[in-house]
Amino acid sequence: MRKFLFAVVVFLGGVVLPGFARDAGAAISLEKCTLCHGKPEFRKLLVDGAIRDLFVTGDSLKGSVHEKKGCTDCHFDVNEIPHRERPKRVTCTHCHYKGNREGAPQSDNVLAYFDSAHGKAIAAGNAKAPLCQDCHGSHQILKVKNPESKVSRFKVAETCGRCHMEIYAKYKTSIHGVALSKGIADAPSCTGCHGEHRIYAHTDPKSTVYPTRVSEQCSKCHASVAIMSKFGIETEQVATYNESFHGVASKFGSRTVANCASCHGVHDIRPPDDPLSTVNPRNIPKTCGKCHPGANANFAVGKIHVDAKKKESGIIYWTATFFKYLTICTMLALIVHIFLDMYGRTRRLRGER
Ligand code: HEC
Ligand code: HEC
Ligand code: HEC
Ligand code: HEC
Ligand code: HEC
Ligand code: HEC
Ligand code: HEC
Ligand code: HEC
Ligand code: HEC
Repeated sequence: MRKFLFAVVVFLGGVVLPGFARDAGAAISLEKCTLCHGKPEFRKLLVDGAIRDLFVTGDSLKGSVHEKKGCTDCHFDVNEIPHRERPKRVTCTHCHYKGNREGAPQSDNVLAYFDSAHGKAIAAGNAKAPLCQDCHGSHQILKVKNPESKVSRFKVAETCGRCHMEIYAKYKTSIHGVALSKGIADAPSCTGCHGEHRIYAHTDPKSTVYPTRVSEQCSKCHASVAIMSKFGIETEQVATYNESFHGVASKFGSRTVANCASCHGVHDIRPPDDPLSTVNPRNIPKTCGKCHPGANANFAVGKIHVDAKKKESGIIYWTATFFKYLTICTMLALIVHIFLDMYGRTRRLRGER
């Protein structure tokens, strides 16, 4: 009997109690973590010689949206002290899922990440692609509306640029990047053209920058008089493009004709009078020549963004006007002809009677 009891105690001590301690591990106190992580010099030397700073205290979360959370709410795989393995990277959807009781904001937008180029790349084992925290940060996550947030309008390009370095470098000197750095909120940041969580490869028809959808993105702003009038830029380019051969063909799904970006560039868009602009007269042979071999400097003259309703368009205006009046005259002649014809018929009918 005694032997049996002893066995039960051993059994409880060996299996149930550690299990119990593991449950309680879900709430390991901050003090237990800061025992080691609270020392400013607590760091690790990595194999490549880099140093990983492991100094984290309760203050690390202060002011962030998660400041009321405990360490193991996010690092939920740390369930014993000392933790024997290096903890895994945090899974934010532990809380940010539909119907969660934590009060963590969730939306279909956020979950769309898993279907995006980034989410798919992670699922395929690409460690260079971003998890939630690579865009949002780790301990100092702020409300997205806070201008200091890593994903705020004015900061997000820098956040994406940590990985997309070459594109960021081009973007920074483009008209849009320069405008944004001056605090002009109307200029597009990366997310203004690509979206936030729904980012797809540009070759994926779901992408906002799929060839036939690029012009739609530019038009969001460039067709708006309210936005463009602030910068003295005309909005007619959108209408003239839509009416042009390229625009019409693109509407019908052609991916070989030019969209706004084929002529203007993508991340390096500049005003036409900038010598580095792809639509500067000096660069027209190269830009149009990509698709129209042999295009010369005059190739674009009077062909692009011409509004036939304006006198300044020269020959095109006069041609359009000529055809307009020709049409009106023809219509009038036709109507007169019909009337004369009807008059003649009724007279003949009467004569027969
Ligand atoms: C006995 C000292 C000690 C205590 C206590 C401790 N840790 Fe650690 N922790 C370490 C060491 C050492 C590493 C480095 C492990 C490695 O990289 O192999 C580490 C690494 C980590 C990492 C991963 C860092 C990375 O490289 O991404 C996290 C997260 C972490 N600890 C969280 C916690 C949490 C949360 C607690 C409290 C529940 C805690 N630790 C308590 C020693 C400790
Ligand atoms: C909102 C969730 C969250 C909370 C709460 C949280 N962490 Fe972290 N922690 C992260 C993320 C995200 C990382 C970055 C590594 C990764 O991707 O998982 C990280 C990284 C770390 C690291 C590695 C060093 C670093 O700064 O990258 C340590 C150590 C750590 N956390 C300890 C703690 C401690 C101690 C607490 C409690 C004071 C805590 N964490 C609370 C999300 C959290
Ligand atoms: C490629 C960068 C990126 C990744 C990866 C990312 N986000 Fe975001 N997220 C953003 C940006 C940018 C915004 C700002 C949207 C805005 O300005 O309204 C945002 C907004 C949010 C918001 C607040 C607005 C909303 O739609 O509810 C939450 C919550 C959020 N993200 C959570 C997550 C979670 C959870 C993940 C991982 C599953 C994640 N994010 C992955 C960039 C990212
Ligand atoms: C323990 C649960 C929990 C985890 C894990 C967690 N969050 Fe949160 N998160 C919350 C709660 C709760 C709020 C709402 C805080 C508030 O409104 O005061 C929040 C708010 C946010 C917001 C602010 C949204 C807005 O309205 O602007 C962002 C962004 C966010 N979380 C991203 C993340 C990211 C990224 C991770 C992973 C590193 C993460 N969260 C992990 C619970 C969590
Ligand atoms: C004015 C709209 C616009 C802005 C702003 C913008 N992009 Fe793009 N991006 C595009 C278009 C259009 C394409 C497709 C280009 C193509 O079809 O070749 C693209 C393609 C891409 C690609 C894939 C093709 C490649 O060259 O690798 C990446 C990655 C990318 N953008 C990242 C970014 C980042 C990061 C930023 C911010 C620094 C940004 N983009 C800002 C419109 C934009
Ligand atoms: C942690 C690094 C990282 C961050 C941060 C990041 N990306 Fe990416 N991104 C990647 C990687 C890696 C891929 C390639 C995925 C693959 O292999 O399909 C990618 C793919 C893309 C693509 C698709 C490329 C294509 O072929 O058309 C676009 C567009 C893009 N990212 C835009 C962004 C934008 C916009 C942001 C910021 C909101 C951002 N990325 C933040 C690493 C990152
Ligand atoms: C989110 C709004 C927005 C989007 C999307 C956008 N732009 Fe712009 N664009 C602007 C603003 C604002 C300016 C004026 C910046 C300034 O002058 O400081 C501008 C300036 C320009 C200029 C310079 C015009 C001049 O004469 O100074 C060109 C060219 C241009 N954009 C082309 C494009 C193209 C092509 C696209 C699509 C690939 C695009 N934009 C997408 C807002 C936008
Ligand atoms: C076939 C090439 C081509 C296409 C497609 C194209 N553009 Fe242009 N764009 C030009 C050229 C060339 C100029 C400079 C001369 C001119 O205004 O005709 C220009 C000028 C501009 C300007 C500057 C106007 C000014 O007065 O400063 C803006 C803004 C602009 N385009 C926007 C767009 C938008 C938005 C689209 C798509 C809806 C688009 N463009 C499509 C070639 C093109
Ligand atoms: C991305 C490729 C591409 C670029 C860049 C491009 N085009 Fe086109 N364009 C086409 C295609 C495809 C057609 C359809 C028929 C054809 O091959 O001529 C077309 C047709 C035209 C037409 C009407 C048909 C004709 O042959 O008269 C004009 C005018 C034209 N382009 C002018 C221009 C000018 C000017 C530029 C430079 C500012 C330019 N295009 C840049 C692809 C492009």
